Amino acid sequence: MGKVYVFDHPLIQHKLTYIRDVKTGTKEFRELVDEVSTLMAFEITRDLPLQDIEVQTPVQQASAKVLAGKKLGVVPILRAGLGMVDGILKLIPAAKVGHIGLYRDPKTLTPVEYYVKLPSDIEERDFILVDPMLATGGSAVEAVNSLKKRGANSIRFMCLIAAPEGVEVLQEAHPDVDIYIAALDEKLNEKGYIVPGLGDAGDRLYGTK
Ligand code: URA
Repeated sequence: MGKVYVFDHPLIQHKLTYIRDVKTGTKEFRELVDEVSTLMAFEITRDLPLQDIEVQTPVQQASAKVLAGKKLGVVPILRAGLGMVDGILKLIPAAKVGHIGLYRDPKTLTPVEYYVKLPSDIEERDFILVDPMLATGGSAVEAVNSLKKRGANSIRFMCLIAAPEGVEVLQEAHPDVDIYIAALDEKLNEKGYIVPGLGDAGDRLYGTK
């Protein structure tokens, strides 16, 4: 079963409160999502492997750590996932960025792929799949399916807010995918919104309705 990690760092929690606030306008919302994404990227990269190199300091030669060069991929689920990408790339600028676009079939209500573009060396990369909201879990499950069927074998899912229903659906479908969140909310409402949530993440990021 995939593990769920809640990033409860005070800065993340503080900023998330203002992201939730209906009074927060588009510009500030986008800036806060960007900042929280950077902070979450800091937490999610804690286990990156290091290697020793020799460095000449002004004082003497020393052995010191650098990242071992693990290949990372960041994949936003369109469109709201885009709001998290730049914040993550601030800390891991060498990561490649893929994109997955899904729409909801009006008849079956299931998510259907309409756009997928991923780095070519998929098998060698560790992917961070991002979407601000894990609601029903349908999109997250389909996006992981998309990645896996093209060869990805290391995937983590990162979002701002999750509903228990979405966590359960993703864990059931993909027990190998760990889930990283800033908050686990109460439930979904009858319209599929997370409660208390933050409303429609895409609309709030891009000023649409
Ligand atoms: N997607 C959103 O943007 N918000 C929700 O509450 C649920 C799904």
